[in-house]
Amino acid sequence: MRITVLTLFPGMVEPFFSSSIMKRAVEKGIIEYSIVDIRDFAEGVHRKADDIPYGGGAGMVMMAAPVAAAIKAAGAEGRRIVFPTPSGRILTQRYAEELSREDELCFICGHYEGLDQRIIDEYVTDEISIGDYVLSSGESAAVVIIDALYRLVDGVIAEESLEDESFSSGLLEYPQYTRPERYCMKSVPSVLLSGHHRHITEWRCMKRLEKTMLNRPDLLSDASLSIEERRTLLKILNNDKGTCQRWTLSEL
Ligand code: ADE
Repeated sequence: MRITVLTLFPGMVEPFFSSSIMKRAVEKGIIEYSIVDIRDFAEGVHRKADDIPYGGGAGMVMMAAPVAAAIKAAGAEGRRIVFPTPSGRILTQRYAEELSREDELCFICGHYEGLDQRIIDEYVTDEISIGDYVLSSGESAAVVIIDALYRLVDGVIAEESLEDESFSSGLLEYPQYTRPERYCMKSVPSVLLSGHHRHITEWRCMKRLEKTMLNRPDLLSDASLSIEERRTLLKILNNDKGTCQRWTLSEL
């Protein structure tokens, strides 16, 4: 996948591409990226890329011409172009999966009060919001969106790691533990040390359901639950003294 980021602040984006898992994906050639400084396409001695809004109002608006020139120079015209904005469609795991199937993506990072609407009308295919709050820069939102999608590209992360994680089946993830077995007077749940695979799977299933019920009950109506998961959910809801309750009490 080829990712292009158009930004007025390249220094906010570059560290993401040169660190951690993304760095490895770039080294393996799975991800190619370029970061384009929009100011390189601004004219005049001051290379002005923003101006006051027509109709009045606070703040500045990013000018159309430098952004259009940057899009053309990056060869992104006619491609899928993302503009992160709080007024966009909300990013979900499903949306990230859809974007991860693209060969090329271009991101325009907004700043100040926004971007001239004519750029959005002419070039942007996806206006994406990362949540109902306002950030001071589009760069951090672009990095969040890129992070959510690139890790789903084949070869970036082992497939097994993606299978059990939050949202993969519409539920949140179960808790994880590593060595030592006892830490600050707290023990790792004994079921995880038992080597009994069926019990471990049951326990994890119950923990995912419990966590989802507690933190994100809204997800349960859309989750595709197996018959076993439905049964466990009912037991949790009924505060059953059977399997799930036994785990909960004994593992706390
Ligand atoms: N830019 C500023 N706030 C944002 C948000 N919540 N989502 C996407 N882009 C943004």
